[in-house]
Amino acid sequence: MEEVLRVENVNAGYGELHILFDVSAKVYRGQITTVVGPNGSGKSTFLKTVFGLSSIYSGKIIYEGEDVTDVPPHEKTKLGIAYLPQTDSVFVNLSVEENLKIAGYILEKDEVQERIELALSVFPELRKHLKRKAGHLSGGERQFLAIATVLVRKARLLMLDEPTAQLSPKFAETIFSKVQELRERFGLTILLVEQNVKRALEISDRAYMLISGRVVFEGDAKSLLSHEKFEKYCMGIGVEEVS
Ligand SMILES: Nc1ncnc2c1ncn2[C@@H]1O[C@H](COP(=O)(O)OP(=O)(O)OP(=O)(O)O)[C@@H](O)[C@H]1O
Ligand SMILES: [Mg+2]
Repeated sequence: MEEVLRVENVNAGYGELHILFDVSAKVYRGQITTVVGPNGSGKSTFLKTVFGLSSIYSGKIIYEGEDVTDVPPHEKTKLGIAYLPQTDSVFVNLSVEENLKIAGYILEKDEVQERIELALSVFPELRKHLKRKAGHLSGGERQFLAIATVLVRKARLLMLDEPTAQLSPKFAETIFSKVQELRERFGLTILLVEQNVKRALEISDRAYMLISGRVVFEGDAKSLLSHEKFEKYCMGIGVEEVS
């Protein structure tokens, strides 16, 4: 299995505030890897650290075989890493179509329309809204647009931070099936953080559990799902090794 991302013994945080302790993780090409853990355990910080939005005190981030520990976020975007944060990640004052076109700015011009068509084949729901301002979409549609922009710009590693937060169960389920479609149709590698732990693990290949900024479980997503202490760990009870 080809490694897309390797995080090696990373200690990171915000300024002096140490959040992640000796975190190591691997993400394989074409897989969905999910990070779970209680509130405040460092899941978002983990994604931000990979993208270059926190302070890394020690350790390494290796992406497609290159050391990218000190590479800033805008350069990581060019390398094919996409990060969709917990909050809105579209331009609300621009139309859906403009958002999609901007996403393609690093591509050759004639390639952009082709990629937009491809993205719209995954998110046909957006087609009727192309001229609407992104700010006027529903939360679910905005999430569709955010993921569609990632497809336009040909990202190879997609990091999603709670893409189903605040969505209706119906929209949340649609997001889960779209994420699966991205892996199946395009072989996209996905690193997911989810509160909807059960559903996320069901569609995932591998999983990590973080508690208080430390990895307490690493392995097969299904084995975490069927772990006898799973329910307890989901509530953040117990910090000893899960596996
Ligand atoms: N920008 C920041 N500056 C300082 N501290 C931060 C910052 N962002 C997060 N933290 C702190 O880092 C810790 C881990 O937060 P993080 O957002 O990574 O957790 P999380 O697992 O994503 O939680 P949640 O499930 O609530 O999204 C928390 O104590 C939080 O207060
Ligand atoms: Mg978070």
